Amino acid sequence: MNAFIFDLDGVIVDTAKYHYIAWREIGASFNFKLSESQNENLKGISRADSLDLLLKWGETDLDADQKNELLAQKNNHYLELIQEMGKDEILPGVLTILNFTQENKIPVALGSASKNAQLILKKLDLLPYFNSVVDGTHVKQSKPNPEVFLLGAQNLKTAAESCVVFEDASAGIAAAKSAGMTAIGVGDPEELKDADYIFNSLEEINLTLLKKLAAI
Ligand code: BG6
Ligand code: MG
Repeated sequence: MNAFIFDLDGVIVDTAKYHYIAWREIGASFNFKLSESQNENLKGISRADSLDLLLKWGETDLDADQKNELLAQKNNHYLELIQEMGKDEILPGVLTILNFTQENKIPVALGSASKNAQLILKKLDLLPYFNSVVDGTHVKQSKPNPEVFLLGAQNLKTAAESCVVFEDASAGIAAAKSAGMTAIGVGDPEELKDADYIFNSLEEINLTLLKKLAAI
C-alpha cells in the first residue's frame, strides 16, 4: 500500500487568491505591482522566500527588521482574509479522496510550506484525516527542496518511492520528483508538465485510478 501526501494551498483549499491579495498590498507599499504571472512563482514557496522575490522584482532593498515588519503585516492581512473561510471552500474532489483514504486505511500526510496549515485544516474540520501534518514550522528549506515531503514520508513510516504527492505548484512537483515520489499535478498542464499525472481538478480522479495510486 502507498501513502498519500497533500499540499494544502491550491490543492485542498483555494487560498492562493488570498495570498495574492495580501502580497499585492505588500508590493504596493514599495510601489511594486505584483502581476498574476509573478504570483504563480510564489506558489509553494515560503513566506520569507516570497518576500525576497517580491523585493528582487521590485528592485527594493530592506534590512532584516523592515523585512520582518512586512512579513508580519502580510500574515496579519492574510489571517484577516481567511477568517471567514469555511468547509464550503474545500476544493472539489478533496473529500472523496480523503474519505477513500480513511475507508482503506491509507496513510496520509500534509506537506505544506505554510505556517498557517494547522489552523486552516482545523477551520475546515479536516485534521482527523491526517496521520501527520508537516508544515512551514517544521522545515528549513522551501520547495523545490524535498525536505517537507521526505519528513512526511518518514512520519508515515513509508518509503519515498511509495508516496504519492498531490500538488498545484511547479516548485512542489519538482520537490516530489526529487524526493523520488509519484507526483500528481492539479492545475495548469504547462506549469506542471513534470508531474506523472496532471488533472484540472481532483474531481477527475476516479476510483480505479485512486486504487492504482494507492497500490491496493
Ligand atoms: C504555500 C503557498 O503553501 O505556503 C504560498 O503556496 C505561501 O503562497 C506559503 O506563501 C507560506 O504560507 P504562510 O501561510 O506560512 O504564509
Ligand atoms: Mg500549493
